[in-house]
Amino acid sequence: MQNITTILKKLFYLWRRSQVPVKQPIKISRIDNLIIFLVCILISIISSYKRLLISPLSITDIFSWLLTFTEIFIISGILILVSKKENPTISSRQIIFILTLLLAVQATKIALASTISPLSMIIPPALIISQGMGSITALAWVSIASLSWPDQAVSINNYLFFILLVCASVVSLLGGRIRNRVQLLQLSIFVPIGSFLSQWILIGKDKISFINNQDFVLSNGDKFSDSLLLAIVMFFTILFIPIFESIFGLLTKARLLELADKEKPLIRRLSLEAPGTFEHTLLICGLAEEATRMIGGDIDLIKTGALYHDVGKLYAPNWFIENQDGLKNPHDELDDPIKSAQVLQAHVDEGLKFARKNRLPKLIANFIPEHQGTLKMGYFFQKAQEKNLDINEYYFRYKGPIPQSKETAILMLADGCEAALRAMNINASDKEALETISNIIYSRQKDGQLDDSNLSKGEIFLIKRAFLNVWKRIRHRRIQYPTSKNNTFS
Ligand SMILES: [Fe+2]
Ligand SMILES: [Fe+2]
Repeated sequence: MQNITTILKKLFYLWRRSQVPVKQPIKISRIDNLIIFLVCILISIISSYKRLLISPLSITDIFSWLLTFTEIFIISGILILVSKKENPTISSRQIIFILTLLLAVQATKIALASTISPLSMIIPPALIISQGMGSITALAWVSIASLSWPDQAVSINNYLFFILLVCASVVSLLGGRIRNRVQLLQLSIFVPIGSFLSQWILIGKDKISFINNQDFVLSNGDKFSDSLLLAIVMFFTILFIPIFESIFGLLTKARLLELADKEKPLIRRLSLEAPGTFEHTLLICGLAEEATRMIGGDIDLIKTGALYHDVGKLYAPNWFIENQDGLKNPHDELDDPIKSAQVLQAHVDEGLKFARKNRLPKLIANFIPEHQGTLKMGYFFQKAQEKNLDINEYYFRYKGPIPQSKETAILMLADGCEAALRAMNINASDKEALETISNIIYSRQKDGQLDDSNLSKGEIFLIKRAFLNVWKRIRHRRIQYPTSKNNTFS
């Protein structure tokens, strides 16, 4: 019996260790909470008030209204939870945006349910949500928007409802994966064609009219005009997506890939004015991408974040070792470790200024301070200790914050390993490389830098293997930095 208890305890311990630590929920201000609450109430009222317009009003009607009201209020809450689960860094502005879209659809249903096909009302918002907040949030939104109809008098054809669900789900799933505007455009052509053909096959071909019909847009049940309207609304949605991106801080795949274009002025400047930093950035992109692929994170996000993580070095490129060509080191002339530490911290502060000036999305700008976390600038701290043993470590630590996501944590680890892997002997064995990687990662872990990142032990193991794979790939085309193990700083 005691053996079974011990085994169960051990299993429970192993299970707990394998779980990803629970992340702190995002903080939403009281005013935003109040706005979210009021929008949810408004959605519930709009979705249920028609049940009170029956005369004479019976107790059963009031009960049915209350039930619908509560039901819509609860599912709006579930929608918020789903969006928070899929996007741990979602802002209150984005939550309000999703809810406002739901509110707009419910209001449109009341005003135009009998004249406009539900496909044109539900599919375009699903495309925006899937692009900006992911497929799961879009699917949750679609299920609420398709199931809740404020006007009981409107009954949708079963086949049309089926087509609506299929098309909206396809848009939600593909929308989250689409990587450029061309694919978006293709989606806005093929989904309406698909909906038209399926309506034609399932519902029948009667009532099909063509453009010579004067009010073709409003003709109810007209499959061709419904699909044409859907194509037009989807096309305009795609045109407006960049505006939604900037107003609500949405980060779509297309935007991420546009930012990752190496012809972007900031990246061009980095390659021309700080070529060493640019090379370092490219290698980090490779390390971080491989590690993120291994743990199943957001590859496009980390690739773009990595590209911009050190743009702050543009303000004084020659103060950073990778741009010095081994000739003059201004830190030697300065001979003041505290001031040198301030120069290093400035690459984070200036980077954030560059991010603001270039309107980089918050998720990308987060990589700038979080890749350094609160790490100790060991080289200058050691130099300062040589002069004064009692010097406070505080002056030699970056201001943070420590990585708040798996992606920024991976970038910190890649940033730490890059210089060491570059400086390694070309003949070093895989075991030696893995040992170097493990030591660097362990020192970050011990320093508490990964505490908020949600990286599990299993994921850290995979990250080490990924870095080793990249090291094996790059060792043949390695360029050595003018650094030794003891004076590495970045
Ligand atoms: Fe840096
Ligand atoms: Fe870096």
